[in-house]
This record gives sequence, structure tokens and C-alpha cells, in this order.
Amino acid sequence: MDIYRVAVVGGGIMGRGIAQVVAQAGFDVVLVDVSQAALDDARRRIAKSLDRIVAADKLGRDDADVVLERIETSTDLDTAAKGADHVIEAVTEDLDLKRELFARLDRACPAEAVLATNTSQFSVTSIAAATGRPDRVIGTHWFNPPPVMRLIEVVRGEQTSDETLATTLDLAARYGKETIVCQKDTQGFVTSRLIMLFLLEATRILEEGIATAEDIDKACRLAFNHAMGPLRTADFSGLDTLLRGAHAMTEHYGERFRPPQTLRRLVNAGELGSKTGGGFHRDSE
Ligand SMILES: NC(=O)c1ccc[n+]([C@@H]2O[C@H](COP(=O)([O-])OP(=O)(O)OC[C@H]3O[C@@H](n4cnc5c(N)ncnc54)[C@H](O)[C@@H]3O)[C@@H](O)[C@H]2O)c1
Repeated sequence: MDIYRVAVVGGGIMGRGIAQVVAQAGFDVVLVDVSQAALDDARRRIAKSLDRIVAADKLGRDDADVVLERIETSTDLDTAAKGADHVIEAVTEDLDLKRELFARLDRACPAEAVLATNTSQFSVTSIAAATGRPDRVIGTHWFNPPPVMRLIEVVRGEQTSDETLATTLDLAARYGKETIVCQKDTQGFVTSRLIMLFLLEATRILEEGIATAEDIDKACRLAFNHAMGPLRTADFSGLDTLLRGAHAMTEHYGERFRPPQTLRRLVNAGELGSKTGGGFHRDSE
């Protein structure tokens, strides 16, 4: 199927970055959110991100303006879905919410459209089962920030067809991304299982008073060549998203994913990382 118009549902940290990448690859994009404030913020942040790319001489000013023009925003999901050849879902990490949304997308989207979820860990099969087209549902797990990170982890649900997988790999290549394929639809796939344990262990090291947040991150940057370090990464990703993920992984794999007190305390205090200006690091933005 030829794809011209992509709907990205959820205009938060991930959705806005994905919308930018897809528009930069030449597709028309409609970015959908329940919150008009989130959409206004997304448009402002995408414009800023494009300005940075122009300033780095990686994109011409006129081309950046064209990219921004390709991105429409809307709070009307059904109309956006009706006109979309492909959907990428990036709403809040809540399985019931995603299943409800996919049932609605299934009713509204053209029959041939492939529906992709950006879930970090939930069962793609379970999300697909909320639709009448489980063969056309797939996981595309992007990384933050989408315009910079090179990988998309592609997750096959039990009933995902070979054709849907091929379309998805082709799209990822057109977005300029590398892919890995998670062949078994298991909680947390490959990458979330690995990074979650790492972030939780870094939080425990902080909680035990063994080192400061700055030194834990510095250790990982200099010893393991990580770009940011685990606690800065956690702030950047959103501590609420991390906590929700840790709960779900604990349910599935047991104690090794149990969230430490410090993480619960920060989330309870509304200190969610970059999106609120404070988390493990006070200067997070
Ligand atoms: N933050 C990360 O680093 C990261 C990385 C990879 C994958 N993910 C996954 O991406 C998804 C989104 O995460 P995020 O960090 O962008 O979250 P976020 O909280 O920044 O944004 C979620 C957005 O979804 C919107 N939303 C909620 N319900 C909606 C609905 N019914 N219809 C339309 N919009 C709705 C919210 O208003 C919000 O703007 C989650 O599944 C998450 O696990 C996140």
C-alpha cells in the first residue's frame, strides 16, 4: 500500500519527535492529542528542534519550513484516522487506554492501514486483539529523542503478517532509522528489559547513599560510553513513565523490577524529570 499521510496519536515527548521524523521523511502528518495545550507545546518544540537542525547546517531554512507545514495538529481522532494511510500510536503507557484507542482506530481507519504502537513494553498481541485487523498491528518502539536516536525496535505480535512487518521495515528505512526485530512478543521486548534494570539499579545505588546522582551518571558516561548516564536518562524519559513501566514489569517478571522508594517518592511529589523541571537532577530540562 502506498503511504502518504501518517497519523501520530499522542503529542507528548515521543509523539512530537516521531511526527517530526515522519514529516522530515516527506510524509504529511496529522498529530493528534486529547489536549490542545499538548499540541501547542508540541508544535513549539518541533519548530525549535528544526531551528537547531538548520543552525547545524543539516537542513535549509526553506526545507525546515516545509517540514513544519507538513505537520497538522488535531484533537479530532476519528477524522484524523479516517484520512490516514498509517497510524503510529504514542499515548500514555496504559494498556487499557491503548486497547480502547486501537478499537476506535480500527473502526475509523481505512481497512488496509497498518496500526503501529510505540508501547515500551506491553503486549502487541493484546493491543492487536482489540481490533479486527490483528495481522495489521505491529510494535514500533522508538527511542527518545526520536529525531536523534537511530533505532526502532520492531515487535511482531502473534498475528502480525509478513506483509505488515515488511511495510514497517521499509517505512523505518525511509525515516532513516536502523531496526531490530523482536520475534517474540514478550513484556519489555529486548531494550526495555535491559534499560529498566539498569535505571532501577542506578536508583538503588543513589538511595543507598553510595554515590551522588552526578557521579553515578558520570561513571556510566566515562566507563561505559553512555551518552547521558542512567539517572539523567530517567529524568529525560519521564519518571512517571518509568514507574508505570517498573510496576508492569514487576507483575510480569517479579522482584527484580520492583521500583525503589526514591522513584515512588519523586513521582508522588510531582517531580517527573525534564517535563516538570526536576527529578533525580534538579536542573533537568
Ligand atoms: N518517554 C520515553 O522516553 C519513551 C521512549 C520510548 C517509548 N515510549 C512510549 O511512548 C508512549 C508515549 O510516551 P511519552 O513519554 O511520549 O508520554 P507523554 O506523557 O509525554 O505523552 C503522552 C501524550 O498522550 C496524550 N494522550 C493520552 N490519552 C490520549 C488519547 N486517548 N488520545 C490522544 N492522546 C492522548 C497525552 O495528552 C500526552 O500528551 C508510551 O507508550 C511510552 O511508553 C516513551
